Amino acid sequence: MKVSVRVPATTANLGPGFDSFGMALPIYNEITIEETVMPGTGIEITILSNSQEELNIMSIPTDKENIVYKAVELLYNSIGQNPSELKITIKSDIPIAKGLGSSSSVIVGGLLAANELLGRPADEAALLSIAAEVEGHPDNVTPAIVGGTVISSLEEDGSVVYRKLNWPQEWKVMVCVPDYELATDIARSVIPKEVPLKDAIFNAKHCAMFVQAVTTKDEELMKIALKDKLHQPYRMKLVPGLSEIIEAIKHEPDALGCVLSGAGPSVLVVTKGNSQEKIKDIVRNTWANLNVKSDIHVLKVEEKGACVLD
Ligand code: HSE
Repeated sequence: MKVSVRVPATTANLGPGFDSFGMALPIYNEITIEETVMPGTGIEITILSNSQEELNIMSIPTDKENIVYKAVELLYNSIGQNPSELKITIKSDIPIAKGLGSSSSVIVGGLLAANELLGRPADEAALLSIAAEVEGHPDNVTPAIVGGTVISSLEEDGSVVYRKLNWPQEWKVMVCVPDYELATDIARSVIPKEVPLKDAIFNAKHCAMFVQAVTTKDEELMKIALKDKLHQPYRMKLVPGLSEIIEAIKHEPDALGCVLSGAGPSVLVVTKGNSQEKIKDIVRNTWANLNVKSDIHVLKVEEKGACVLD
């Protein structure tokens, strides 16, 4: 038996919501899991990509260290079984190590496909909990599973609590992807374990403003809400061009804000109105001045989460 699952890309943090806020985007990976009948064939993981360089793909483990396998193994273990002979194929359109949830997408894809193969022993809550455990935080895996713009929390008992926000249709997200990579573990290693209380308070206030701004389509509030003091300031040095881009679009009336996408290095600009081309040019030229090439996409939120393909 063979099952394929399509999973959206995600952008996480959305400014102040470090490890909590996330949004699904219409770029997809397809993960296929096949139970092979030949005993002793073990696990085989193949990664296919149109857009990634060979080197990039080569850096992903294709044995039991692979995060898809780890997620699948946890699901099997949760029903007292062990995965044995599995062929896992990942068709990857989500850029890797760019802050667009590529690792979450394969964790979620593996879990959903394995869940189908096993006759759906896990419900949404169990899938969310395993996915967040493997990823370490819930902000990418939750929108990858449920779609939309989501606030999520990995609670102390291991459960994931989430709620969706209604993202205003008029607000577009511009995903700006530079041609360099940044591994999430490196981007996390520069954040201190403890932060000043005033910075924690700053983010708590801005998270509250973000929710209110999205809920009431308050553009002026959103321009303030997208600020962060918990992760972006520490990551600035790992993301050449970020501070320049933030500065350059600060005075664009149609730009509601500019934040790091997940752990970076992609940058997310929230826009309204029709000035996307101008803002795109500003971002592209700012990076070009630093010899960085970029791909820029204006996207709508993907309201649908991961789905099993027929
Ligand atoms: N919240 C995570 C981070 C997202 O910023 O490190 C990337 O996995």
